[in-house]
Amino acid sequence: MAFRDTKSKIIIKTIEQIEGIRLSSQLAGETLKVVAPYVKPGVTTDFLNKICADFMRDNHAKPATLGYHGYPKESCISVNDVICHGIPGKYELRDGDIVNIDVTTILNGFFGDTSSMFMVGQVTDHAKKLVEVTKQCLNIGIAQSFSGNFVGNIGYEINKYATQFGYSVVYEFCGHGVGLKFHEEPEICHVSDKNSGPILAPGMVFTIEPMINAGKARCKVDKHDGWTARTIDGKLSAQFEHTICVTTTKPYVLTDVNNEFEIPSKLF
Ligand code: MF3
Ligand code: CO
Ligand code: CO
Repeated sequence: MAFRDTKSKIIIKTIEQIEGIRLSSQLAGETLKVVAPYVKPGVTTDFLNKICADFMRDNHAKPATLGYHGYPKESCISVNDVICHGIPGKYELRDGDIVNIDVTTILNGFFGDTSSMFMVGQVTDHAKKLVEVTKQCLNIGIAQSFSGNFVGNIGYEINKYATQFGYSVVYEFCGHGVGLKFHEEPEICHVSDKNSGPILAPGMVFTIEPMINAGKARCKVDKHDGWTARTIDGKLSAQFEHTICVTTTKPYVLTDVNNEFEIPSKLF
C-alpha cells in the first residue's frame, strides 16, 4: 500500500511576487482591451493575434504561449465550436461568430493569464445566452475563491449553475496555479465534488477558466495541428478566464482591468 501524498506543492506567493504577477496580469487584461475593437467581420484571427503580439512586445512582455510545448502563436483564438487552443490563422471572422481570445504574458518573469469572449456583429440569442452564462460561471468560481474553502467548491458551484441551463462543463481542460510558471499546482477543475481537494490559503494564485458547451461536454483535439480542441457535436463553446489571488479577505482578481471586482483592503 502507498500513503497518500499530503505534501502540497501549491506555491504561496509573497507580497512582492503578487505585485509582479499583478503587473503582468494587468498587461494581459490590457491586451484584450486593445484587441477588442478589431474583432469585426472579415478580420482574420492571424491579424488579431498580431495586434496582441505587438502590444505585449511593445510593453516588454513575452507571450507565454509562443513555443510552449511547441505551440506556434502568441495567443489562442477559439471560434464557435472550438473549446480552446485555437491557433490563429487565415480564418476570417463572420457575422454571428463567438470568439475567445486567450493571452498569457510573461513580464519580469511573472505570468498573467486571461481570456474573454467577443461577439462578431449580430449573434443569435442562443449564443448570447451561452456567453452570458459562461461569464457568470467565472464570477461564481471567483466568489468561491476565499481562504479556508475547498478548491473543489469552485467547480462544484460552476457545474451546478451551468447545468441548470442545459449546458455542459468541459472536464478535459482545467484552470491552474500560475504566476512563477505558466502551469503550476493546483489544478482547478470546473466540475468537481463539493468539499473536495486542497484548502485555499492566502497567497495562492491560480486561474479559473470555465469552458461551457451548449451541447455535450466531450471534446476532440484536431489531428492535423495537435492543438485545436472542438466540441464533439459541433455545438458552440464559450470561455472566460481570470488570474486570482486568494487573500485573508476577498478574492483579488489580478487580471481585472474593468473595475468589475473590488480590490481587497488587506492581502495577508
Ligand atoms: N492560456 C491557456 C490557459 O489558459 C493555455 C494555452 S497553452 C497553449 O491555460 F499552448 F495552447 F498556448
Ligand atoms: Co489558463
Ligand atoms: Co489562458
